[in-house]
Amino acid sequence: MSIILNEICKKYNLNTNRENSVLKNISMQINDGELIAVKGRSGAGKSTLLHIIGCLDTATSGEYYLDGKDISKCTDRDIANIRNEMFGFVMQDFGLINDDTVSFNVGLPLLLGNKASENIEKTVDEKLKIMGIFKLKNRLAENLSGGEKQRVAIARALVNDPKYILADEPTGALDSANSKIIMNILKDLNKQGKTVIIITHDADIASECGKIVTIEDGVLTE
Ligand SMILES: Nc1ncnc2c1ncn2[C@@H]1O[C@H](COP(=O)(O)OP(=O)(O)OP(=O)(O)O)[C@@H](O)[C@H]1O
Ligand SMILES: [Mg+2]
Repeated sequence: MSIILNEICKKYNLNTNRENSVLKNISMQINDGELIAVKGRSGAGKSTLLHIIGCLDTATSGEYYLDGKDISKCTDRDIANIRNEMFGFVMQDFGLINDDTVSFNVGLPLLLGNKASENIEKTVDEKLKIMGIFKLKNRLAENLSGGEKQRVAIARALVNDPKYILADEPTGALDSANSKIIMNILKDLNKQGKTVIIITHDADIASECGKIVTIEDGVLTE
Protein backbone atom coordinates (compact mmCIF):
# COMPACT_ATOMS: atom_id res chain seq x y z
CA MET A 1 0.00 0.00 0.00
CA SER A 2 1.13 3.52 -0.57
CA ILE A 3 0.44 7.20 -0.97
CA ILE A 4 0.01 8.10 -4.63
CA LEU A 5 -0.26 11.70 -5.76
CA ASN A 6 -1.13 12.32 -9.41
CA GLU A 7 -0.73 15.80 -10.89
CA ILE A 8 -1.70 17.54 -7.66
CA CYS A 9 -2.23 21.30 -7.99
CA LYS A 10 -2.97 23.76 -5.21
CA LYS A 11 -3.97 27.32 -5.97
CA TYR A 12 -4.86 30.06 -3.54
CA ASN A 13 -7.05 32.94 -4.62
CA LEU A 14 -5.38 36.21 -3.83
CA ASN A 15 -7.75 39.07 -3.05
CA THR A 16 -6.66 40.90 -6.21
CA ASN A 17 -8.33 38.49 -8.67
CA ARG A 18 -4.98 36.78 -9.04
CA GLU A 19 -4.21 33.18 -8.21
CA ASN A 20 -1.17 31.88 -6.46
CA SER A 21 -0.19 28.46 -7.81
CA VAL A 22 1.60 26.87 -4.89
CA LEU A 23 1.80 23.26 -6.10
CA LYS A 24 2.07 22.55 -9.83
CA ASN A 25 1.35 19.03 -11.06
CA ILE A 26 3.01 17.22 -8.20
CA SER A 27 3.17 13.47 -8.81
CA MET A 28 4.83 11.15 -6.36
CA GLN A 29 4.53 7.78 -4.71
CA ILE A 30 5.44 7.06 -1.11
CA ASN A 31 5.63 3.37 -0.31
CA ASP A 32 5.01 1.72 3.04
CA GLY A 33 8.04 1.81 5.29
CA GLU A 34 9.79 4.70 3.58
CA LEU A 35 11.64 7.47 5.41
CA ILE A 36 11.48 10.47 3.14
CA ALA A 37 12.68 14.07 3.43
CA VAL A 38 11.00 16.97 1.65
CA LYS A 39 13.35 19.90 1.16
CA GLY A 40 12.83 23.34 -0.35
CA ARG A 41 13.19 26.98 0.54
CA SER A 42 10.68 28.99 2.53
CA GLY A 43 7.38 29.40 0.67
CA ALA A 44 8.14 26.56 -1.76
CA GLY A 45 4.96 24.69 -0.78
CA LYS A 46 6.32 22.02 1.59
CA SER A 47 3.76 22.50 4.35
CA THR A 48 0.96 22.77 1.79
CA LEU A 49 1.99 19.39 0.36
CA LEU A 50 2.19 17.80 3.82
CA HIS A 51 -1.24 19.18 4.72
CA ILE A 52 -2.74 17.64 1.58
CA ILE A 53 -1.07 14.29 2.30
CA GLY A 54 -2.34 14.41 5.91
CA CYS A 55 -5.89 15.30 4.82
CA LEU A 56 -5.73 18.64 6.65
CA ASP A 57 -6.28 20.37 3.31
CA THR A 58 -7.49 19.38 -0.15
CA ALA A 59 -5.90 19.86 -3.55
CA THR A 60 -7.42 22.19 -6.14
CA SER A 61 -7.03 19.45 -8.74
CA GLY A 62 -5.30 16.11 -9.20
CA GLU A 63 -5.74 12.72 -7.64
CA TYR A 64 -4.76 11.42 -4.21
CA TYR A 65 -4.94 7.69 -3.49
CA LEU A 66 -4.25 6.70 0.09
CA ASP A 67 -3.78 2.94 0.38
CA GLY A 68 -5.89 2.61 -2.74
CA LYS A 69 -8.68 4.89 -1.54
CA ASP A 70 -9.58 7.90 -3.72
CA ILE A 71 -9.52 10.72 -1.17
CA SER A 72 -11.40 13.14 -3.43
CA LYS A 73 -14.41 10.78 -3.31
CA CYS A 74 -14.52 10.58 0.51
CA THR A 75 -17.02 12.49 2.63
CA ASP A 76 -15.81 15.03 5.19
CA ARG A 77 -16.62 12.56 7.94
CA ASP A 78 -14.58 9.82 6.23
CA ILE A 79 -11.69 12.23 5.83
CA ALA A 80 -11.83 13.25 9.50
CA ASN A 81 -11.68 9.58 10.50
CA ILE A 82 -8.85 8.84 8.08
CA ARG A 83 -6.90 11.83 9.42
CA ASN A 84 -7.33 10.74 13.02
CA GLU A 85 -6.56 7.05 12.46
CA MET A 86 -3.90 7.05 9.75
CA PHE A 87 -1.74 10.10 10.48
CA GLY A 88 0.33 11.34 13.38
CA PHE A 89 1.42 14.97 13.08
CA VAL A 90 4.58 16.51 14.51
CA MET A 91 5.02 20.27 14.08
CA GLN A 92 7.92 22.68 14.50
CA ASP A 93 6.20 24.60 17.31
CA PHE A 94 5.04 21.36 19.02
CA GLY A 95 1.33 22.28 18.90
CA LEU A 96 0.72 21.41 22.55
CA ILE A 97 -1.95 22.87 24.81
CA ASN A 98 0.42 24.64 27.16
CA ASP A 99 -1.79 24.93 30.23
CA ASP A 100 -2.74 21.26 30.20
CA THR A 101 -0.73 18.30 31.43
CA VAL A 102 1.51 16.07 29.37
CA SER A 103 -0.87 13.13 29.74
CA PHE A 104 -3.89 15.21 28.68
CA ASN A 105 -2.04 16.42 25.59
CA VAL A 106 -0.96 12.92 24.60
CA GLY A 107 -4.43 11.45 25.16
CA LEU A 108 -6.31 14.15 23.27
CA PRO A 109 -6.55 12.29 19.92
CA LEU A 110 -8.08 9.33 21.79
CA LEU A 111 -10.60 11.59 23.54
CA LEU A 112 -11.53 13.06 20.16
CA GLY A 113 -11.89 9.53 18.82
CA ASN A 114 -14.32 8.71 21.67
CA LYS A 115 -12.15 6.00 23.20
CA ALA A 116 -13.07 4.70 26.70
CA SER A 117 -11.19 6.65 29.39
CA GLU A 118 -9.52 3.65 31.14
CA ASN A 119 -7.99 2.63 27.81
CA ILE A 120 -6.80 6.18 27.25
CA GLU A 121 -4.68 6.24 30.40
CA LYS A 122 -3.15 2.85 29.64
CA THR A 123 -2.28 3.81 26.06
CA VAL A 124 -0.93 7.23 27.11
CA ASP A 125 1.32 5.69 29.77
CA GLU A 126 2.66 3.19 27.27
CA LYS A 127 3.54 5.92 24.71
CA LEU A 128 5.13 8.12 27.41
CA LYS A 129 7.33 5.19 28.44
CA ILE A 130 8.37 4.57 24.84
CA MET A 131 9.39 8.24 24.56
CA GLY A 132 11.22 8.11 27.92
CA ILE A 133 9.05 10.85 29.43
CA PHE A 134 6.75 8.91 31.75
CA LYS A 135 8.01 10.90 34.74
CA LEU A 136 6.77 14.11 33.08
CA LYS A 137 3.22 12.75 32.93
CA ASN A 138 1.61 15.24 35.32
CA ARG A 139 3.69 18.29 34.38
CA LEU A 140 2.15 21.20 32.49
CA ALA A 141 3.32 21.31 28.88
CA GLU A 142 4.43 24.95 29.27
CA ASN A 143 7.04 23.97 31.86
CA LEU A 144 8.96 21.59 29.60
CA SER A 145 12.10 22.14 27.55
CA GLY A 146 11.82 22.20 23.75
CA GLY A 147 13.21 18.69 23.41
CA GLU A 148 10.77 17.38 26.03
CA LYS A 149 7.87 19.15 24.32
CA GLN A 150 8.73 17.55 21.01
CA ARG A 151 8.85 14.09 22.63
CA VAL A 152 5.39 14.76 24.09
CA ALA A 153 4.23 15.77 20.61
CA ILE A 154 5.63 12.53 19.15
CA ALA A 155 3.94 10.50 21.92
CA ARG A 156 0.68 12.23 20.97
CA ALA A 157 1.31 11.51 17.27
CA LEU A 158 1.74 7.81 18.14
CA VAL A 159 -1.25 7.44 20.43
CA ASN A 160 -3.63 6.24 17.70
CA ASP A 161 -0.94 3.94 16.33
CA PRO A 162 -1.00 5.67 12.93
CA LYS A 163 0.61 4.18 9.88
CA TYR A 164 2.07 7.52 8.76
CA ILE A 165 4.08 10.08 10.74
CA LEU A 166 4.10 13.52 9.12
CA ALA A 167 6.69 15.86 10.60
CA ASP A 168 6.87 19.53 9.53
CA GLU A 169 10.29 20.91 10.54
CA PRO A 170 10.28 18.74 13.68
CA THR A 171 13.74 19.95 14.72
CA GLY A 172 13.31 23.56 13.58
CA ALA A 173 12.95 24.93 17.12
CA LEU A 174 15.55 22.66 18.75
CA ASP A 175 19.29 22.84 19.41
CA SER A 176 21.57 20.32 17.72
CA ALA A 177 21.62 17.83 20.62
CA ASN A 178 17.83 17.71 20.83
CA SER A 179 17.54 17.63 17.04
CA LYS A 180 19.66 14.49 17.06
CA ILE A 181 17.46 12.87 19.73
CA ILE A 182 14.26 13.66 17.81
CA MET A 183 15.76 12.49 14.52
CA ASN A 184 16.84 9.20 16.14
CA ILE A 185 13.31 8.70 17.49
CA LEU A 186 11.81 9.29 14.03
CA LYS A 187 14.34 6.89 12.47
CA ASP A 188 13.53 4.24 15.10
CA LEU A 189 9.80 4.61 14.40
CA ASN A 190 10.57 4.09 10.73
CA LYS A 191 12.57 0.95 11.53
CA GLN A 192 9.57 -0.30 13.51
CA GLY A 193 7.46 0.01 10.37
CA LYS A 194 6.02 3.53 10.30
CA THR A 195 6.17 5.47 7.06
CA VAL A 196 7.79 8.79 8.02
CA ILE A 197 7.73 12.01 5.98
CA ILE A 198 9.94 14.81 7.30
CA ILE A 199 9.98 18.38 6.03
CA THR A 200 13.28 20.05 6.68
CA HIS A 201 15.53 22.91 5.63
CA ASP A 202 18.47 21.07 7.12
CA ALA A 203 20.66 19.16 4.65
CA ASP A 204 22.16 17.01 7.45
CA ILE A 205 18.69 15.89 8.59
CA ALA A 206 17.65 15.20 5.00
CA SER A 207 20.77 13.13 4.39
CA GLU A 208 19.67 10.72 7.15
CA CYS A 209 16.51 9.86 5.22
CA GLY A 210 16.28 7.07 2.66
CA LYS A 211 14.90 9.36 -0.01
CA ILE A 212 15.02 13.13 -0.54
CA VAL A 213 12.64 15.14 -2.71
CA THR A 214 12.87 18.88 -3.29
CA ILE A 215 10.08 21.34 -4.04
CA GLU A 216 11.12 24.35 -6.03
CA ASP A 217 8.51 26.88 -7.17
CA GLY A 218 5.77 24.29 -6.65
CA VAL A 219 7.51 21.64 -8.75
CA LEU A 220 8.91 18.46 -7.28
CA THR A 221 12.27 16.93 -8.12
CA GLU A 222 13.79 13.73 -6.75
N1 LIG B 1 -4.19 30.07 3.13
C1 LIG B 1 -3.34 30.61 2.24
N2 LIG B 1 -3.77 31.58 1.40
C2 LIG B 1 -2.93 32.13 0.47
N3 LIG B 1 -1.66 31.74 0.31
C3 LIG B 1 -1.18 30.78 1.11
C4 LIG B 1 -1.98 30.16 2.12
N4 LIG B 1 -1.23 29.23 2.75
C5 LIG B 1 -0.01 29.26 2.17
N5 LIG B 1 0.03 30.18 1.20
C6 LIG B 1 1.17 30.50 0.33
O1 LIG B 1 1.62 29.31 -0.28
C7 LIG B 1 3.03 29.31 -0.43
C8 LIG B 1 3.59 28.01 0.16
O2 LIG B 1 3.37 27.99 1.56
P1 LIG B 1 3.89 26.79 2.47
O3 LIG B 1 3.47 27.08 3.86
O4 LIG B 1 3.47 25.51 1.88
O5 LIG B 1 5.47 26.95 2.30
P2 LIG B 1 6.67 26.16 3.01
O6 LIG B 1 7.49 25.56 1.92
O7 LIG B 1 6.13 25.26 4.04
O8 LIG B 1 7.48 27.35 3.68
P3 LIG B 1 8.27 27.41 5.10
O9 LIG B 1 9.59 26.70 4.87
O10 LIG B 1 8.49 28.86 5.33
O11 LIG B 1 7.43 26.76 6.14
C9 LIG B 1 3.54 30.57 0.26
O12 LIG B 1 3.80 31.51 -0.73
C10 LIG B 1 2.37 30.99 1.11
O13 LIG B 1 2.35 32.37 1.26
MG1 LIG C 1 6.22 25.23 6.11
